[in-house]
Amino acid sequence: MKEQIKKVLKEIEDFEILTEENLENFRKNFLSKKGAIGELLENFKKLEKEEKKIFGADLNSLKKQAEEKFGVKKDSLVSGQEEKNDLDLSLPGQRMPQGSRHPLSIVQNTMINIFKEMGFSLSVGPEIEDDWHNFSALNFPENHPARDMQDTFFIEKDISLRTHTSSVQVRVMEENEPPIRTISPGRVYRNEAISARSNSFFHQIEGLYIDKGVSFADLKQTLFHFVQRFFGEKTEVRFRPSYFPFTEPSAEMDIYLGTGTEEDYRLTKGTGWLEILGCGMVDVNVLENCGIDPKVFSGFAFGMGIERITMFQYGVKDIRTLFENDKRFLDQFKTLT
Ligand code: PHE
Repeated sequence: MKEQIKKVLKEIEDFEILTEENLENFRKNFLSKKGAIGELLENFKKLEKEEKKIFGADLNSLKKQAEEKFGVKKDSLVSGQEEKNDLDLSLPGQRMPQGSRHPLSIVQNTMINIFKEMGFSLSVGPEIEDDWHNFSALNFPENHPARDMQDTFFIEKDISLRTHTSSVQVRVMEENEPPIRTISPGRVYRNEAISARSNSFFHQIEGLYIDKGVSFADLKQTLFHFVQRFFGEKTEVRFRPSYFPFTEPSAEMDIYLGTGTEEDYRLTKGTGWLEILGCGMVDVNVLENCGIDPKVFSGFAFGMGIERITMFQYGVKDIRTLFENDKRFLDQFKTLT
């Protein structure tokens, strides 16, 4: 009996299990009723009591060993299979969907960087604004028709969605001593009919520069430099007299596109000139309203719509596509930063 147990033990140890078929054979050979261990057990039954005592423990551990080997190999075969299913190294990798910057952000960031290089800081303010910051401080007299220039979304009597980011500049002037050199980008709201060319909200960048002896020449040169950086060195500009309650004198600035293409003709209504911003010298009343002495300081301000310039830059024909978040539209800007 002892010899037999030894022999079977050696067989169990030597048995190679690499496949499921091996495993099944192992089970048949050793663990099934008719297998080697089964046979030993049958023989064991026939032994004398004394002999049973001697071989019982050996036989038991033999059986355990066989079961253990079976279990371990079975587990590793199953998990090996799972791994095999998971890992097909010939499969092409899964691409992570790549996002892209919104065209408005691209244009806005480019503008911010140009002004930053000129020493302008960045300021932001609330989109829900009180009457003082959006209108009164900016020299819009109460009930003055000038307030109709910008159709306003009112929330309460004296609270509205800001119609321009000039409101942020009032806050900056109230809180800081000149010299002030800042730009305020942000979303603004106007109660306008929505069409391909106008939306009820859009984005602006407004700039403000206040110091001793700031003149209209500084305004022109600053904006001229911006235009050269943004639209290209050869870009021609012109200033047309205009009116804003908060600047005096006021102007609008155009860049020259010409009428060479049908698109330029359409954009410039046949004149060749595209209006891109409003500007002017900060009105004396505005400086006073914000606690700045106009006898000591002067300044200029300007403001431009980001959508209009984005549409021109990228040939976007309908302003609404900028707000629909249609991935097919946005994906076109993937390579830009
Ligand atoms: N706030 C004006 C607008 O929204 C733009 C502007 C800013 C004009 C500063 C002049 C000076 O249209």
